[in-house]
Amino acid sequence: MNIALLGFGVVCSGVYDILKNMPEYNVTKILIRNPAKKTLDCMTLDFTDIENDKNIDLVVEAIGGLHPAREYILASLKAKKHVVTANKAVVAAYFEEFIAAAKENGVKFMVEATSGGGIPWIKNLQRVGRIDDVTNIHGIMNGTSNFILSAMTSEGKDFADVLKTAQELGYAEADPSADIDGDDVRNKCAISASIAFGCPVDVNGILQAGIRHISKADIDGVGKKGYNVKLFATAKRNGDSFDAVVEPVLLNKYSVEANVPKNYNITCLYGETIGEVKLYGQGAGGFPTGNAIVQDIIDVNKDNAFDINFDKKLNKTELISGKYYIRIPDGTAGWKEIIGDIIESEESTAAGTIVITKETTPAKVHKLFSINKEIFIARFA
Ligand code: HSE
Repeated sequence: MNIALLGFGVVCSGVYDILKNMPEYNVTKILIRNPAKKTLDCMTLDFTDIENDKNIDLVVEAIGGLHPAREYILASLKAKKHVVTANKAVVAAYFEEFIAAAKENGVKFMVEATSGGGIPWIKNLQRVGRIDDVTNIHGIMNGTSNFILSAMTSEGKDFADVLKTAQELGYAEADPSADIDGDDVRNKCAISASIAFGCPVDVNGILQAGIRHISKADIDGVGKKGYNVKLFATAKRNGDSFDAVVEPVLLNKYSVEANVPKNYNITCLYGETIGEVKLYGQGAGGFPTGNAIVQDIIDVNKDNAFDINFDKKLNKTELISGKYYIRIPDGTAGWKEIIGDIIESEESTAAGTIVITKETTPAKVHKLFSINKEIFIARFA
């Protein structure tokens, strides 16, 4: 099988190194942006060299971002080349369009590497879906934010110091805002929920809160009560309805998810006959993500790939709820107008007012960000 790589960063270098030991698969062209980095004869600066090359069977896209990634993916599919991608942002934004284009052109569009890195998550969602309706998924799907939360919890470090270490270790996105504000998890949540529920889930409809404003006081305070904080993607389905949210959660310290260390990920699903399944592993990095891409390549080559079918039409409704821990910085006006009717307890501390709410919905609590984006929230999961 002849393969083209779009990009030659961490992920495509990992793919290239893995494929070097697999004689059935030849990387025949690599698209790069910077002429100074042309170190191999097969490298080109011109995408049309790949699009027009009739000998290329499959294109791996890992350039990231929305454009020109979307155009390259569509052009490759229209040129009847299978596409395997690790680009979660472009898939979350244009999933339905890519699936339709792949079907129209009789080729495959594969996304294992977009969500959970090396964890065989997407394939297992599809496999479980052959028997069960998957009704719940959740997980820790961002290594950078988990690295930060774990180090703050186990080593008592401050947010800013740990973020710097995560960047130095190469876990973070080019702009780490995507990691700490939840955008990256939201993309993975939309992709996972779309596969799990058989219905394209609009990424922009998923409420999102990150960990940028968590403080040591939050970690210590909830820690004393027996909880660890993690950033979760959560999605649920009930009949023709679904719900999805990305936000910090408080987990019993002894639960599996609360103990996911460093930059590891965990992805979990629930189906009626299989029950609960939890998959743990490396969610980022060249070799784990490269491994997921090569698995997709092998599945396409061996005609072993699952089709992605968006044959269900589900409505987004409020299915997710819980009590919330909320820390409101001093001087924040108007918060009682939003959550005054659901206060279970309220305490004034040096770090701000800490409110524990009664059972409520993400939509109600996320309204707080309209008055102050620095409010920290976490749902008791
Ligand atoms: N920045 C991402 C993470 C990379 O930290 O998990 C993998 O998507």
